[in-house]
Amino acid sequence: MEVYSEKQQITAAIDAAKAKKLTLGLVPTMGALHEGHLQLVIKALEENDLVAVSIFVNPTQFDNPDDLDKYPRTLENDIALLKTVSATKIMVYAPTVDDVYEGNTVSETFDFDGLEHEMEGKFRDGHFDGVGTIVKRLFEIVKPHKAYFGEKDFQQLQIIKKLVEKHHMPLEIVGCKIHREANGLAMSSRNTRLKPEFSIAAPFIYETLKTAKIKFGTKSANEVKEWVEKQFKNHDLLELEYFIISEVETLKPLKRKSNNKAYRAFIAVYADDIRLIDNIALN
Ligand code: PAJ
Repeated sequence: MEVYSEKQQITAAIDAAKAKKLTLGLVPTMGALHEGHLQLVIKALEENDLVAVSIFVNPTQFDNPDDLDKYPRTLENDIALLKTVSATKIMVYAPTVDDVYEGNTVSETFDFDGLEHEMEGKFRDGHFDGVGTIVKRLFEIVKPHKAYFGEKDFQQLQIIKKLVEKHHMPLEIVGCKIHREANGLAMSSRNTRLKPEFSIAAPFIYETLKTAKIKFGTKSANEVKEWVEKQFKNHDLLELEYFIISEVETLKPLKRKSNNKAYRAFIAVYADDIRLIDNIALN
């Protein structure tokens, strides 16, 4: 498996592959890979001749320098995990900040038709400009036919689809289902940082989402929201940041249910100082 740290090198390898008419998938990641990331890679391998996995902790999407510092960096382990999936069809792009940003780590400013102002956009200042900047750059460097994103970060997935549409970029965005621990907790690189008692408590997040989904069958969005807020008020360890039911296309909070629209519930919770997010399709 080739691991490239410079864009010139990976571009040369990609150009050679494309000259042979091979199809190319891209899975952008920040490393600290787990089974959830691997599901994206597996799907990309099924649908393409070659898969590029980028491993880059992108500084422009962190609003909190401490979070950026503490983000796990486990390149050797990540490569070993990727090799378990395929040793021959994956190439890794693990660049330095300078290789990607060439000394200018200022984000572009994007207009994602309002998607960027909801949920995570309210609580993480500048986050989606940072994500848009790095993902657009990765698409330009790797030039994949398809790129794979998890529904775990559903707002990010919708924003990337909007990025591609608005900038007329010639690739397809593929969304992949949320991969969970056996206890229901959505897999995340942050889960390994949970202290034991918080690790035991955290599956409560998905339990609550599943019950909220059932309640949504007969109750209004507001009633479900109030019920969820009450569950967390009564909880000793988990602190709710937001719970919101939104329409899938615009991510705007649901006001009145309509039969022909799709809705999702989104949640962000603090377990100690670790922020966990999750979401569930409601209909
Ligand atoms: P990262 O958090 O490393 O996630 C990389 C990809 O894996 C994202 O598309 C994310 O949604 C997906 N993913 C993570 N956990 C998942 C799970 N449990 N089930 C399904 N998919 C999962 O998201 C980022 O990195 C960055 O913002 C990035 C897009 C790479 C830009 O820097």
